[in-house]
Amino acid sequence: MEEYRGLFSRGAIGGLEIQNRIVMPAMGTALGGFDGRVTDDMIEYYRARAMSGPGIIVVEVACVDAPAGRALLNQIRIDHQRYLSGLSRLAEALKSGGSRAFIQLHHAGRQTNTLITDGIQPVAPSALPCRVSGSKPREATAEDIEDIKKKFIMAGVFAKQAGFDGVEIHAAHGYLLSGFLSPFTNRRTDGYGGSTGNRARIVVEIIGGIRSWCGGGLVIGIRFNMKDFLTGGIEEDEGEAIAGILEKAGADYLSVSSGMYESGHVSIEPQSFGEGWRLGLAERVKKSAGIPVFGGGVIRHPDFAEKAIAGGKADFLFVGRNQIADEKWAEKARKGQADKIRPCLSCNHCLDRTTKSLHIGCAVNPHAGRELRLGKLLRADYPGRILVVGGGPGGAAPQGAYRGVQGIPGRAVEGIRHTGPA
Ligand SMILES: Cc1cc2nc3c(=O)[nH]c(=O)nc-3n(C[C@H](O)[C@H](O)[C@H](O)COP(=O)(O)O)c2cc1C
Ligand code: SF4
Repeated sequence: MEEYRGLFSRGAIGGLEIQNRIVMPAMGTALGGFDGRVTDDMIEYYRARAMSGPGIIVVEVACVDAPAGRALLNQIRIDHQRYLSGLSRLAEALKSGGSRAFIQLHHAGRQTNTLITDGIQPVAPSALPCRVSGSKPREATAEDIEDIKKKFIMAGVFAKQAGFDGVEIHAAHGYLLSGFLSPFTNRRTDGYGGSTGNRARIVVEIIGGIRSWCGGGLVIGIRFNMKDFLTGGIEEDEGEAIAGILEKAGADYLSVSSGMYESGHVSIEPQSFGEGWRLGLAERVKKSAGIPVFGGGVIRHPDFAEKAIAGGKADFLFVGRNQIADEKWAEKARKGQADKIRPCLSCNHCLDRTTKSLHIGCAVNPHAGRELRLGKLLRADYPGRILVVGGGPGGAAPQGAYRGVQGIPGRAVEGIRHTGPA
């Protein structure tokens, strides 16, 4: 596409060709079964986005050790062979528009609680309570660490067997591995605590283990925090050092993120944050890294994304909530129909639902999470003109929203009206 030449240029990660620079990052949907299986609802949610053709889709947090490492009651699992058939159907669906299929390997660590872990006390690098999840974890023993490493490595093997092109080790946002990396949560005095290298050791060993079991046929990426935005946590200088350690350990790409539950507003931003405000973190990693770097955070418009790629801020851009709000974000950008994109409002209604284990929903996209039940079209039997009255995220356009936004208060739009009981 002429208009977005950089964004739609081909890329490569670890020898794997990627059709463009758009990544749909891992985003929990709570569409999994309560037994941890992939559901048909989940497959159709992802297929709708895959058809639009982003370069990579990273499937949401998949638990490597349930129930102890679960962050959601209905989180998908990748810790037993019995989950492979659902995972392989999911991997197939992800590839239906040419995207590469990755899956995020996850252990919640201290950011869960006993209501979610079936009463098991959460495990963490140190016994530091989490103010947000309410957990009082126990410190991982040497045996726990060996067991956790094996579970991540086995999950990598399962991902490859299920047909995924890559895995993303979740070492960001305060979960177990992020907890090891950060001095805010890691107070250990053994070989897995203290210096930056010691805190990164568990991730380094997991990368090495997955590589030795899966060979070069599986991309191994890491999502990590360049900055925790917490006093006593990872700051940029250390983030850059961690990036170097992970690259040296054999990672194929680095997805640069930030924040923990205690600073969650810099992981999943509310409306007050400007478009691409944290791309500087990725840019800094990109300057020193020899492997591809993903950056993002509140990327709304393809114009902005194009400038970020052209300006060398990152090799790939993650566009998260905007691909929930409009499953055709990538396709519309590619076809030069950016003004038809339905923008995300950063209202976090989606997140509010999923943290309660309710299936994902979106304030501006009634289909999100309901693809299977609603099919492609949602049409009223008797179409009419409606007037949207009111404010708030449902009616207002976010600051900096662009042409084509629907639902501006007081503006009449073609819409759907209820034909039955409300
Ligand atoms: C509903 C929801 C679920 C999320 N789940 C995950 C997840 O499973 N793993 C992860 O690394 N990040 C997760 N995130 C963070 C996103 O991947 C992304 O980094 C964040 O939303 C900022 O990007 P955006 O502004 O483009 O949405 C989630 C975000 C949302 C809104
Ligand atoms: S619910 Fe809100 S934040 Fe989530 S994708 Fe939809 S508009 Fe964006």
